[in-house]
Amino acid sequence: MGKTYKIAVFPGDGIGKEIVPQALRVLNAVAFKHNINIKTADALIGGSAIDEFGMPLPEDSLNLALNSDAVLLGAVGGPKWEGLDYSVRPERALLGLREKLRLYGNLRPVKLFSALADASSLKREVIDGIDIMVIRELTGGIYFGKPRGIEKTDGQEKGINTEVYTTSEIERIARLAFEVARGRRKNVCSVDKANVLESSELWRRIVSNVHKEYKDVELTHMYVDNCSMQLIRYPKQFDVILTTNMFGDILSDEAAMLTGSIGMLPSASIGGDVAMYEPIHGSAPDIAGQDKANPIATILSVGMMFKYSFKLDGACSVIDTAVTRVLEKGYRTPDIWSAGQKLTGTREMTDLILNEIE
Ligand code: IPM
Ligand code: MG
Repeated sequence: MGKTYKIAVFPGDGIGKEIVPQALRVLNAVAFKHNINIKTADALIGGSAIDEFGMPLPEDSLNLALNSDAVLLGAVGGPKWEGLDYSVRPERALLGLREKLRLYGNLRPVKLFSALADASSLKREVIDGIDIMVIRELTGGIYFGKPRGIEKTDGQEKGINTEVYTTSEIERIARLAFEVARGRRKNVCSVDKANVLESSELWRRIVSNVHKEYKDVELTHMYVDNCSMQLIRYPKQFDVILTTNMFGDILSDEAAMLTGSIGMLPSASIGGDVAMYEPIHGSAPDIAGQDKANPIATILSVGMMFKYSFKLDGACSVIDTAVTRVLEKGYRTPDIWSAGQKLTGTREMTDLILNEIE
């Protein structure tokens, strides 16, 4: 008997409660196949934790994460909690986990499953073959910068947030991007707004400095507005996109649509001792509880867990291949369905993927 991996499981809210249990079936099947021992324990975060304990990230949930080998997360948030103060909203759970687990690097692979080319709003020839890795800085920038808040001044209010990056924060994420690029097509495009922002001017300078250690990798710089245009004009030009927290949030949603649906994109958040895996989509309250959600992003996130936390690239490929086959056979959840294809729900889609694995 080898090591037993402890996995903290946070389904969260909305469709998170449906897709995470399905992804766990895949996790267990692949672990069994590869002879790995897994022990899962779940806890509440987000709106569900607010309802139960009055806070989005209870101490017990955080401790569970800190004492695990990896975290699998569904999604948080929903209309029910939207009126709450920022400090106690469901999203704080996610931001708190990223901060406390020191997950400064967010990997968001944007890969087109060829069978889905027609589900994208872009033409097939523009997107066929795209394989981009968006690397988003995840614990700095305007998401965490201080000062922040809403102040009352001279009879009106002032909302404040601060975009701030230090040398060491930029260096470590740049290193991660160059390392990842070495395992791919060796091309990094660093995205900033250096024509306007000082924080971006520093970003660009430090990224260029770190690049001196990675001369085998090609580095280019691009302004974020141009990047958002290039992503839909000619996305095949990109290999690794390296960018800040806020720009990465926006560009990864845009890039997701190249693949047909945001329901397809997994992510890994790394940098500390415990990595976290989650789909990049949200809790989709409008379709929650109806067996309509696409479980693939979460299932592919489990694949990333095998690859990055357990160093089992083979197990990750098994999952990717299973998903590819099911899509090639024409099965689709509603978000990627079009006429002539076989409509499936969350559970049935997972059954089909499991069939391909076993
Ligand atoms: C994401 C999400 C989160 C973010 C929200 C839910 C806080 O949009 O992971 O992309 O902005 O980082
Ligand atoms: Mg986002």
